[in-house]
Amino acid sequence: MAEAIIAGLLRKKLVGPEQIAGSHPRQSRREEMHVKYGVEMFENNRDAVTEASIVVLAVKPQRLLGVLQELKGSLAKEQLVVSVVAGAKIETIAEELVHVSIVRTMPNTPAQIGEGVTAWTASAGVSEQQESQVCAMLEALGKTVRVENERQIDMATALSATGPTYIFLVMEALIDAGVHMGFSRHVAQELVHQTMLGSVLFARESHKHPAELRNMVTSPGGTSAEAIYQMEKGSLRTVLSKAVWSAYQRAEALGRK
Ligand SMILES: NC(=O)c1ccc[n+]([C@@H]2O[C@H](COP(=O)([O-])OP(=O)(O)OC[C@H]3O[C@@H](n4cnc5c(N)ncnc54)[C@H](OP(=O)(O)O)[C@@H]3O)[C@@H](O)[C@H]2O)c1
Repeated sequence: MAEAIIAGLLRKKLVGPEQIAGSHPRQSRREEMHVKYGVEMFENNRDAVTEASIVVLAVKPQRLLGVLQELKGSLAKEQLVVSVVAGAKIETIAEELVHVSIVRTMPNTPAQIGEGVTAWTASAGVSEQQESQVCAMLEALGKTVRVENERQIDMATALSATGPTYIFLVMEALIDAGVHMGFSRHVAQELVHQTMLGSVLFARESHKHPAELRNMVTSPGGTSAEAIYQMEKGSLRTVLSKAVWSAYQRAEALGRK
């Protein structure tokens, strides 16, 4: 995720490589990042943050506490901390770092190609100028949506951060259905990928409700009517709703641990 942010910032020319510093415990990874992006890499997190206006926390949740302890006491009041770590509460980060300016974000995997969507929220100690900086930085990953509180971060975790999982499962099922009918996997994949991509772009550009778009292709006694009947009979809508609700409850439970 940190690499996706660095790549996006440089691709969009929001900052130059000399304005980015990273850290990694492994020398081979430090060298790889330096050669690929020209950014300065440190072994130690404390060294990486000394001149930073924005400090991004992007380690796995189980490593976060160690990194926070390492950084404790090394941040100046005006530095902003942005966390992409799933489940890590603003309060926890603020207490561990003894710091008030914290932004919590929830990106998703299409961020790797700059097509993600990131929900974010800020603590009261974050200034308006810092908020616009964060927004610009997160746009390196795709779209951004500011949410009101951390409960909505959990909701975004279930809807958009877990979102690619729902889409990929539907994608896989449709490709398999194509193969079942007799298409080669390659052809089924091409047909499904473009159908999904085209449907999303069409929905976005037409500004129509999905039900209206669906009705446009549903002729009496036709193929869409037959397919819709089977999907409703199989409770596809309810299954998806339950999946999102369960993911939300799981996100809340993980945040309480
Ligand atoms: N990937 C996503 O789409 C996504 C979406 C939403 C949220 N997130 C959150 O983003 C965070 C990062 O996820 P990721 O997928 O980018 O994980 P990742 O690929 O494992 O990246 C974390 C990197 O941090 C390195 N690291 C380990 N200990 C470190 C330390 N003490 N100091 C500095 N770096 C250290 C890891 O090295 P080693 O591999 O050698 O351990 C690894 O290269 C997670 O908290 C995750 O919850 C990710």
